[in-house]
Amino acid sequence: MDHAAALERARVLLAEAPRVLVLTGAGISAESGVPTFRGPEGLWKDFRPEDLATPEAFARDPRLVWEWYGWRRGLVAACAPNAGHLALAHWMLGRAGVTLVTQNVDALHERAARTAATARGGDPSPALPIRLHGSIARVRCTRCDHGAEGDDPVDATARETLPACPACGALLRPDVVWFGEALPLPAMQRADAAAREADACLVVGTAGAVQPAAGYAMAVVRRRRPLVVVDPGPTAFDGMAEVKLTGSAGAVLPPLLG
Ligand code: OAD
Repeated sequence: MDHAAALERARVLLAEAPRVLVLTGAGISAESGVPTFRGPEGLWKDFRPEDLATPEAFARDPRLVWEWYGWRRGLVAACAPNAGHLALAHWMLGRAGVTLVTQNVDALHERAARTAATARGGDPSPALPIRLHGSIARVRCTRCDHGAEGDDPVDATARETLPACPACGALLRPDVVWFGEALPLPAMQRADAAAREADACLVVGTAGAVQPAAGYAMAVVRRRRPLVVVDPGPTAFDGMAEVKLTGSAGAVLPPLLG
């Protein structure tokens, strides 16, 4: 199948499915300027996850961990949703039955949902994602159950300058899921329910190396429902995809979903 025929086949599969599960990863934000994790340009090439993205790393050196998240926060704040995020948001606002599950912590899906809703004069909620790995634009307390929106710049020059909980004074941490931590249960339950009901699945910009995220797409395939993959590189899903669209999210999603 050439690219045009594959695109048309994927369009029909997604249009005919009453309920679609969409799973996204770092690749959908790559064209916005947010680095991915794996591959030659990925964050895990220059940084070790065990130094920066584990509860043990935070307990050992919260200053270093906050410095890294502060840097990523600044990077993300300077980025904008790209054509891929926007095409997906418009598609979700224009039809029923789509559940978006993201591994991304960059809040670009949320920003795209608000942009698309403003353009259409509607409510962004149907285009908001289920966030499996939390949000870089939120904080939560390391001691009590305080959590809040918060993406102010972080002064990570010393432990004493790190953000503190307004309720109990303990250190605040980024509200993201680190290696070895459990995912937020409500997000997992909603993603699991969507995977059990979906009539088709669209996977965009994820290598498929991390569970349980990858498993939601695989569960749809196990139920013999079609899978469409959009990614310029190889992924763990390629062998099970009904259609693989090799290309970037910003180039492929507008014609696929528009
Ligand atoms: P990865 O870095 O593992 O995979 C990114 C995928 O995006 C790869 O398959 C790339 O080929 C693809 N890609 C690159 N540019 C793209 C583009 N312009 N359009 C579409 N796709 C593109 O990132 P994730 O799969 O998201 O977890 O990683 C999953 C999790 O591993 C992350 O949430 C993070 C990480 O460790 C935590 O921090 C808990």
